[in-house]
Amino acid sequence: MRTVRTVKDLRRLRQHYTEGRETVALVPTMGALHEGHLSLVRQAKYRCQRVIVSLFVNPKQFSAGEDLDSYPRTYERDAQLLSELDVDVLYMPTRDEMYQAGASTTVNVVGVGEGLCQATRPDFFSGVATVVAKLLLQCLPDVAIFGEKDYQQLLVIKRMAQDLDIPVTIESGSTVRENDGLALSSRNAYLSEDERISAPHLYYALTQAQHRIHAGESISKVLWDSEQYLISVGFEAIDYFVYCDADTLAPCDRRLTNRPARFLAAAWLGKARLIDNIAA
Ligand code: PAF
Repeated sequence: MRTVRTVKDLRRLRQHYTEGRETVALVPTMGALHEGHLSLVRQAKYRCQRVIVSLFVNPKQFSAGEDLDSYPRTYERDAQLLSELDVDVLYMPTRDEMYQAGASTTVNVVGVGEGLCQATRPDFFSGVATVVAKLLLQCLPDVAIFGEKDYQQLLVIKRMAQDLDIPVTIESGSTVRENDGLALSSRNAYLSEDERISAPHLYYALTQAQHRIHAGESISKVLWDSEQYLISVGFEAIDYFVYCDADTLAPCDRRLTNRPARFLAAAWLGKARLIDNIAA
């Protein structure tokens, strides 16, 4: 596995792969890799001949007071895991390489990038859209793969790539879960022992809501009960628990029968803000 730190070196490698008519998949990450990331890397290997994994803790997607400084950083372990999977390139740009002095362009996706996570994390999606647009243009992959766990992020990235005519196929990988249902996330490291016991209730609440809506119960009642349930099992605050159109994220107060729908939730357990979602 080659580790590269500059756009110039990355482009040189990309050019080499193009000359050999090899396809390239990019898996963007912020490191602290877990099985969820590794499953995206395996998917990338299946899809393309060459796999590039980027590892960059993007300061632009953290607002003041968020966990940029404490975000888990496990670079050596990450590099080891990626080399065991036979990844071709680990791209680890420095902050100055990614955001040159005077950089003043931000990519902002309205519509799917508004509401839900954006309501409590105002800089998150503009930061994600900006860095992912840059990564795609730096690397020019044939395919880029993102986890479904960050469902709103996935829609933002798809919209951004389409709107900016970036020639890439954006693909998604299924959420990987612990045996008790908790979605894998680098931020699960923030959970205390007691919080870890409560954490899988988020997924449980989503699946219960799914069953109840399929059984014909009122959506507003199901959503209200789900939030109350999460509070009763130890969650301190619920940012959102919604049933919405899976493509537009528009909230629905009636069950969608002719279009895909999705439940999405974000809730706090101590320092950890957990997010999860399932098809409705
Ligand atoms: O999901 C993540 O890890 C990040 O938001 C991403 C897509 C790598 C952009 O920094």
